[in-house]
Amino acid sequence: MFSNRAVLFYCDLSGHTSPPADLPKSLKVARKRSLAELEPEDSQQIIDVGNPKLVHRRMEERFAKGASLWLIKFEDRLAGYGWTLQGRVIAPYYFPLAEDDVQFFDFHVFAKYRGRAIDWFLMTHILQRVAADGAARAFAEAGEWNRASLSSIAATSFRRLGWARKLTIFQHTIVFWAENDMVRQVEEHACPKWPLAAPGGNTSDISRSVP
Ligand SMILES: CC(C)(COP(=O)(O)OP(=O)(O)OC[C@H]1O[C@@H](n2cnc3c(N)ncnc32)[C@H](O)[C@@H]1OP(=O)(O)O)[C@@H](O)C(=O)NCCC(=O)NCCS
Repeated sequence: MFSNRAVLFYCDLSGHTSPPADLPKSLKVARKRSLAELEPEDSQQIIDVGNPKLVHRRMEERFAKGASLWLIKFEDRLAGYGWTLQGRVIAPYYFPLAEDDVQFFDFHVFAKYRGRAIDWFLMTHILQRVAADGAARAFAEAGEWNRASLSSIAATSFRRLGWARKLTIFQHTIVFWAENDMVRQVEEHACPKWPLAAPGGNTSDISRSVP
């Protein structure tokens, strides 16, 4: 019933005011806002990462919620992708997000392209693009076990926020925090009247944050 312990990351986008830096010539990033915008071979490659029916349905749901899918191509071949959603969460989350907050989730680099910092290029590029569009803060997470993802996120401008585990039961999500000092400050910005955790406590019920 518990999720694995996750490491949560936060990036203050006010420091990302310059336009996106040029990517190396071999890399291209494209933002997609619907399934119809995807080349059939790209969507097929993404769908084949998991259970095709499930991934397809999940993609439709994400686009319907207003999520963006970012593709990164190496020499015109799809090398990886990642999702972002602004102002709301895609699934029960650890805390409420403000309108100008962006959640980064489900990043993937195809096996033959791993270890070349493709994930870093993609996340860094997206951070600059969403900052240029007016977003204020970005959030990301990785399973505590996921060394590759942790290492890749830590190399970007994301900073570690803390460790947490969540449990969703009867539509209520309970969050267990391992470290939450910075989280409190971040959450107050999103919802000042609703502290993330009771003073002195290390759990919170965030069920009201889920749309
Ligand atoms: C996590 C992931 C996106 C990282 O992408 P990436 O472009 O390979 O990232 P990097 O090149 O920055 O490599 C990250 C780390 O993984 C290591 N690594 C992972 N697979 C590797 C491979 N096949 N070859 C070489 N290095 C690899 C790198 O050495 C690096 O570790 P280091 O910083 O200690 O040297 C990718 O491994 C992946 O898609 N994993 C499966 C999906 C997943 O776990 N997504 C994240 C959670 S949503």
